[in-house]
Amino acid sequence: MKNKIIAGNWKMNKNRIEAEQLVTELIPLVKDTKNTVIICVPFTDLCTAVKLTKGTNIHVGAQNCHWKESGAFTGEIAPSMLTELGVEYVVIGHSERRTYFGETDQTVLLRTKAALAAGLKPIVCIGETLDERNSGNMENVLRRQVVEGFKDITAEELANVVVAYEPVWAIGTGVTATDEQANDAIKFVRSVFAEKYGKKAANALYIQYGGSMNDGNAKGLLAMSDIDGGLIGGASLVATKFATIVHSK
Ligand code: 13P
Repeated sequence: MKNKIIAGNWKMNKNRIEAEQLVTELIPLVKDTKNTVIICVPFTDLCTAVKLTKGTNIHVGAQNCHWKESGAFTGEIAPSMLTELGVEYVVIGHSERRTYFGETDQTVLLRTKAALAAGLKPIVCIGETLDERNSGNMENVLRRQVVEGFKDITAEELANVVVAYEPVWAIGTGVTATDEQANDAIKFVRSVFAEKYGKKAANALYIQYGGSMNDGNAKGLLAMSDIDGGLIGGASLVATKFATIVHSK
């Protein structure tokens, strides 16, 4: 089994002082893990996080980036602006961005491509809504998100991508997918990647689960055959909880 990739997605939480406190508390708690530890922080906390984690095993990610290198795109951040700070990862296509900010499979693809070109490792999020699952459309939706969202991504590029399967109905709701639900969906997603990139590349691909993962349920989820890590929202805002998840497997 691979080591896990455990990433915290702070979303729009923690100002500079709070970020400093959280990162400082987290560093000693996760220093002895074999797993990869990432914190994806608000843009305004990136400098703080990069500075504090220098020389530690914690990697820093942003939560979005644009596909152009510069220009009249008010409110957007270019990939090279992130790499220049020492940022290594970037969350792309989170369901909150798809739902509230008009993100589509096409813009996800553009952002992923640009992030890769700049040397960032994208954490690309996919996942179905409750309606889509209940109406029997889960596999169609996941397939579409993979086929459209990875249209131009080469096999070499895929090696630097992390995928996060986050069922929308489990995000921030306290309703976690069962270990089996999460594993089955990720198995399906992996099979779709295998169709395009082959079995070997699909098996090597890291696919995380996200959606109300916490210090209580992480162990079960991370023990499943196809779950290669977690993308954690709420529980990543508390150092001890996040550290427990990091050490769950
Ligand atoms: P929660 O862990 O708060 O449900 O959020 C999951 C998520 O959206 C991570 O990106």
